[in-house]
Amino acid sequence: MTIQFSTKIFPQADLQSAKALNSSLKSLLAHTSDCLVLAYSKADFDSFSGAKATKNKSGFLAELDRLLSGSVSHANLLGDLDDKQSSVCLLRAEKPWATNGVKAKRVLLLGLGDLHLASERSLTSFSKVVRAGLKALSGGSIENALWFVPSFAQKSELIAEEVRLTIQYGGDQAYRFGVRQPAMKFKVKDKADTFKHLVFAGNNACAKELKLAVEQGLAMVEGMYLAKDLGNLPPNICTPTYLAKTAQGLSKKVGLKVEVLGRKQIEALGMGSFLSVAQGSETPPQFIVMRHQGGKTTDAPIVLVGKGITFDTGGISLKPGEAMDEMKYDMCGAASVIGTLYAAGLMKLNQNVIGVIPTCENMPSGQATRPGDIVKSMSGQTIEILNTDAEGRLILCDALTYVERFKPKAVIDIATLTGACVIALGHVHSGLFSEDEGLVNALTKAGKTSLDTVWRLPLDAAYHEQLKSNFADVANIGGRPAGSVTAACFLSRFTEKYKWAHLDIAGTAWKSGAAKGSTGRPVPLLVNFLLEQK
Ligand code: BES
Ligand code: MN
Ligand code: ZN
Repeated sequence: MTIQFSTKIFPQADLQSAKALNSSLKSLLAHTSDCLVLAYSKADFDSFSGAKATKNKSGFLAELDRLLSGSVSHANLLGDLDDKQSSVCLLRAEKPWATNGVKAKRVLLLGLGDLHLASERSLTSFSKVVRAGLKALSGGSIENALWFVPSFAQKSELIAEEVRLTIQYGGDQAYRFGVRQPAMKFKVKDKADTFKHLVFAGNNACAKELKLAVEQGLAMVEGMYLAKDLGNLPPNICTPTYLAKTAQGLSKKVGLKVEVLGRKQIEALGMGSFLSVAQGSETPPQFIVMRHQGGKTTDAPIVLVGKGITFDTGGISLKPGEAMDEMKYDMCGAASVIGTLYAAGLMKLNQNVIGVIPTCENMPSGQATRPGDIVKSMSGQTIEILNTDAEGRLILCDALTYVERFKPKAVIDIATLTGACVIALGHVHSGLFSEDEGLVNALTKAGKTSLDTVWRLPLDAAYHEQLKSNFADVANIGGRPAGSVTAACFLSRFTEKYKWAHLDIAGTAWKSGAAKGSTGRPVPLLVNFLLEQK
């Protein structure tokens, strides 16, 4: 990690109580830091700028002003302080503030506006405040900061979510490609940010939650980083074998049990559909199974299935050349599964989670599948392949049959499955398909708490009509109308034995253009989903 996160407890610190205000601020300011970060509300601002005589002023900003020799009033006089949400105001002393025992070199005031008054809690607004704060800390000469969490918290029960989100955004901002991947020596490394260490300050009231939330947030960011690195790696390096090696590496790191099946074993399982995609490539397919055993052996596992096409040319139904390089990201579902299992291992999650990844390349060659070929899936259903570019569903359907053996509590597959999903939802929400209301609600909620959101699309019987084949049980494409829905319908034919949801992350897994790069989504969503499981 290019940014460190840690916690520090100031037992009695409390900015809500007028009595404790002076001593609380003193203790926070007496801690040596490049910058102390405090949030203030519109009400704090109003009571500070409304009262006339300075010495009569009360409240948090007035008390701070006295301890900082008038720096807050001075900033207000200059117009640097206001009541707006996401405002930032950096206070520096003309002469050191040391006269009052202040060891903080700067104080960053972050405006919450009326966030605490919002009737419906708004994590989106909260995240904007956080981002404004992180931006103000980065890129300059500040190396470390003390971030007083209770000043941000609208309600103490939200502390965990808010801290995880702060780490998620801070981690995201600090991400640099390849820093952790030995294979990336050829890349001239981006300069790391000058900002290096964020210390979450809490008090006795929130110490326990804070410590746990920081651990969870850190684990999640590590998982997100791994997913990003795997996505960004070039397709000549990030092959099915590389994914398998990465998964195996995690077995040593965090004790995941990892099993990798090669072509022979995949054949023995009867995965004719998966193999039909792999057969055009010189690179061997791999079938990866990763287990995190955090619950009782008898607890039914949550199973995550990730699409791992390490490069999608389209096969014989070749894709047009424009932006084809981005099809290296067609393994982002797999990367999110590996990242989530890594996070689960790091945070010692008390549940059983299994990650399953069918991975291969989709290439044209003399050996490649032709449009019109009929193959037999592991489930026994025959598939007429009308377009070799609809390959994701062909590898996933066999994995979805394979996972029946785990008697799962629920199965979620994650795939960069359809261009149509990008047309439908853009780059904002991932597509969510499920007939199980419980899963839909849980994933929707986890999306909202992680700001890694999903939007439900339909999956009803009427759409299955489009998948009829004259020659096999099912066709692998359903025409242009509702392309994401028919892709999900195809998968649903292989999921009848358990509760299942499908996430189409084609629009959310990576960014194109100048900011081209993997987003690490939906690792935050999946980690929050697991954390919110009962
Ligand atoms: N990996 C692609 C989906 C994709 C395309 C994701 C562009 C993100 C951006 C998938 O394998 C694919 O090619 N799908 C086809 C399906 C079609 C042939 C029915 C598509 O979306 O065009
Ligand atoms: Mn394709
Ligand atoms: Zn694909």
